[in-house]
Amino acid sequence: MKTRASASSNGSRTRNLFPILSRKMRGHPLVYLDNGATTQKPSSVLSAMDSFYKKSYANVHRGIHTLSEEATVAYEHAHENVADFIGASSLREIVFTRGTTDSFNMLSRMLTQTFSRGDEIIVSQAEHHSNLVPWQQLAQQKGLKLSFIPYDSRTGELHWEKLEKMISKKTKVVSLTHVSNVLGFISPLKKISKLVHDHNALLSVDAAQSVARLPINVKKMGVDFLSFSGHKMYGPTASGVLYGREDLFSSLEPAYYGGDMVREVTLNKSTWNDLPWKFEPGTPPIVEGIGLGAAVDFLRAYPLEDIFSHEKKIMAHAMNGLSSLGNITIYGPSSPEQRAGVLAFNVKHVHAHDLSSLLNEDGVAIRAGHHCAMPLMTALNIPASARASFAVYTEKSDIDALVEGVRKAQTIFK
Ligand SMILES: Cc1ncc(COP(=O)(O)O)c(C=O)c1O
Repeated sequence: MKTRASASSNGSRTRNLFPILSRKMRGHPLVYLDNGATTQKPSSVLSAMDSFYKKSYANVHRGIHTLSEEATVAYEHAHENVADFIGASSLREIVFTRGTTDSFNMLSRMLTQTFSRGDEIIVSQAEHHSNLVPWQQLAQQKGLKLSFIPYDSRTGELHWEKLEKMISKKTKVVSLTHVSNVLGFISPLKKISKLVHDHNALLSVDAAQSVARLPINVKKMGVDFLSFSGHKMYGPTASGVLYGREDLFSSLEPAYYGGDMVREVTLNKSTWNDLPWKFEPGTPPIVEGIGLGAAVDFLRAYPLEDIFSHEKKIMAHAMNGLSSLGNITIYGPSSPEQRAGVLAFNVKHVHAHDLSSLLNEDGVAIRAGHHCAMPLMTALNIPASARASFAVYTEKSDIDALVEGVRKAQTIFK
């Protein structure tokens, strides 16, 4: 997509780029507010994948026939596109994965040999399970200490200042979310990066909820590893990225083994391919990678600053609308300025699942549950919450439909 669009001024034009949004849901216009779980796909992404299958499809890095060469060029170009999008030095720092979860599993395996018994990994109480369980398992296997930055009920964020007291010579990795998938807060990564690096530790960041909402530059942010999913940034499922600083990637061992990631193999020994291919064994998600590249092109057409400010306006509208109903608890920072696109809430006397079912009757799709963040639910002392999450195509009228649906639920469950 060549022309620049504006997320704030072109609401319905933006919607028209997403075929599914013209669908009726139970006789109502579809109001899709489950973008934190996955975003819908623009025509440009769908047609890039369709056209690749129809015109250029073959396996990559293997054939010397024209189709394989074309596929290889397109697949490598998608890596370069992603590298440029997040401010990485080159494609050598971009490993395609199946998504954020896959990236964290891969990273924790790649780092295994760098840990010694007693070393520490710090995460937070607000992490998605995918940035918790792999570290938990690694800590158990290697005798590591896993520590947690606690939730701060005064601010609706994390107790950031506690990190300063927690971090020590033993800390090897700090792995934190950039935007919380429940609380919507934005982590102060620049400050954290300085602290982490002052202690010779590494900073890994979960950008699953931020990559399609905020401008990201890994170098300026001082991030060592960054994980995200294609399907939450208007791209296809089974696509994702693990960014890693080239000097680190060069020194780390692969997480998985097989074809394509090797340079030379004898019966007893193997040597590894160049970066990033040493971390991409077997046939990779080729078409998904092409789709991810197209999603990057789509996002480039909207300056990320515009998307961020658009979603902030939507957030303010939603927070005001829901609060005006009364008997609503909103989780996370109280100011829309400190949040990015994710709004978890509960309605007094209405279970989040019941609310979601009722809203569904009116064509409004939200998420209800623990959001794969059970330890955070424990800290908030709730079993579940409702969550509305926004995207480039979300309009104020979508929020009005949400608020009206919640109001209706309140009258039913009084
Ligand atoms: C903050 C965060 N991290 C990680 C994930 C996991 O992403 P995926 O399921 O695409 O691997 C999610 C998904 O909801 C998320 O919101």
